Amino acid sequence: MTLAAIVAAVVLLLPCATGYPWAFCGENNNFKANSSYQSHLSLVAATLPKNASTSPDLFATAVVGTIPRQLWAMGLCRGDVDGTACFNCLTQAFRDLPNHCSYNKDATMYYDPCMLHYSNNQLIPDDDSGDFYTINSTAAVNSDPVGFNRLVAALVNATADYAAHKSTRRFATGETTAGSVSEEFPKLYSLAQCTPDMKAARCRECLAALISQSLDAFQNLTLGRVLWINCTYRYEAAPFFNGPAMVQIAVPSSSVPVPAPAPTLAPAIQPSYGTPAAVAGVGESQSTVHISSYLKVPDSGMLGSKF
Ligand SMILES: *[C@@H]1O[C@H](CO)[C@@H](O)[C@H](O)[C@H]1NC(C)=O
Ligand SMILES: *[C@@H]1O[C@H](CO)[C@@H](O)[C@H](O)[C@H]1NC(C)=O
Ligand SMILES: *[C@@H]1O[C@H](CO)[C@@H](O)[C@H](O)[C@H]1NC(C)=O
Ligand SMILES: *[C@@H]1O[C@H](CO)[C@@H](O)[C@H](O)[C@H]1NC(C)=O
Ligand SMILES: *[C@@H]1O[C@H](CO)[C@@H](O)[C@H](O)[C@H]1NC(C)=O
Ligand SMILES: *[C@@H]1O[C@H](CO)[C@@H](O)[C@H](O)[C@H]1NC(C)=O
Repeated sequence: MTLAAIVAAVVLLLPCATGYPWAFCGENNNFKANSSYQSHLSLVAATLPKNASTSPDLFATAVVGTIPRQLWAMGLCRGDVDGTACFNCLTQAFRDLPNHCSYNKDATMYYDPCMLHYSNNQLIPDDDSGDFYTINSTAAVNSDPVGFNRLVAALVNATADYAAHKSTRRFATGETTAGSVSEEFPKLYSLAQCTPDMKAARCRECLAALISQSLDAFQNLTLGRVLWINCTYRYEAAPFFNGPAMVQIAVPSSSVPVPAPAPTLAPAIQPSYGTPAAVAGVGESQSTVHISSYLKVPDSGMLGSKF
């Protein structure tokens, strides 16, 4: 895909991103009703949710048919959800996504507990192209934004390290401990995940590239999240994951809070799945989806250096 094609795709993608769950439809590359592509999709829909939810990594991919009618699909659940939630989320995704991206061969949908992607074209190995999408709060910190931003960077970085190097699921959750970030936002919570087929170093590079290309845009903001197929991260001033945090980082004493006005914490996007109608619009006034630029994952040697 050329950059021009990606830019064109971005323009077409925008109207799809109406709110949770976030769906992104590809270019004008459609299949027909009752086509072999449709039957490949039905075949995958019947087995992929079970395969992913019963795999130790909560991840499954499938390739069906031959080019040019080939379908490539991938389902991934968040590392902290159980098999049932994973199965239900991916089953829901297979119901919702063809409606959101009707007859589009290339489609991706992000829920809190899972993501589903299918395409007629598997991403070429080592292809470094891709668009990512950011979600952010409009709520900003009032006290000590410099300390806050530094803490977000450190937490997100530590969470990415853990996901890449210490988790076979390539998943980690994190939180700040010992002292408070500020009076407004006593704690920060984070998450990082790569597709579990990635090697540790590749996962770390993917996250490092994603973080370095998006974190600046989240300056002073209480919620930041990036959606992408290969890797993802998220932080929030309110808890949103299941179980204890895998990574804990202490708040440095240099970011001791200045007394602040009454909290104006934006409601977090709840970690729920289910009927889109029930959850549509959650956090909509605080969140927005932006198509961000072309993601470049470097070949080597930038771990942590871009912060
Ligand atoms: C698809 O197949 C169904 C069942 O065979 C049929 O009822 C329907 O008319 C077909 N649709 C198209 C667009 O061919
Ligand atoms: C699910 O797993 C079965 C058994 O390993 C395999 O035959 C099938 O192709 C898989 N389907 C998908 C969509 O991954
Ligand atoms: C993204 O993931 C796909 C499928 O695993 C892989 O082929 C591709 O190389 C990855 N791209 C990047 C930039 O890591
Ligand atoms: C991010 O992590 C890398 C590797 O662990 C480290 O060298 C770097 O200093 C960290 N950056 C921040 C902002 O914490
Ligand atoms: C954050 O949200 C605001 C308001 O919705 C929006 O104008 C801004 O562009 C967003 N920033 C990013 C990085 O998404
Ligand atoms: C963050 O807050 C500081 C202090 O209020 C301000 O100087 C800076 O411009 C803000 N950054 C952004 C991106 O709004």
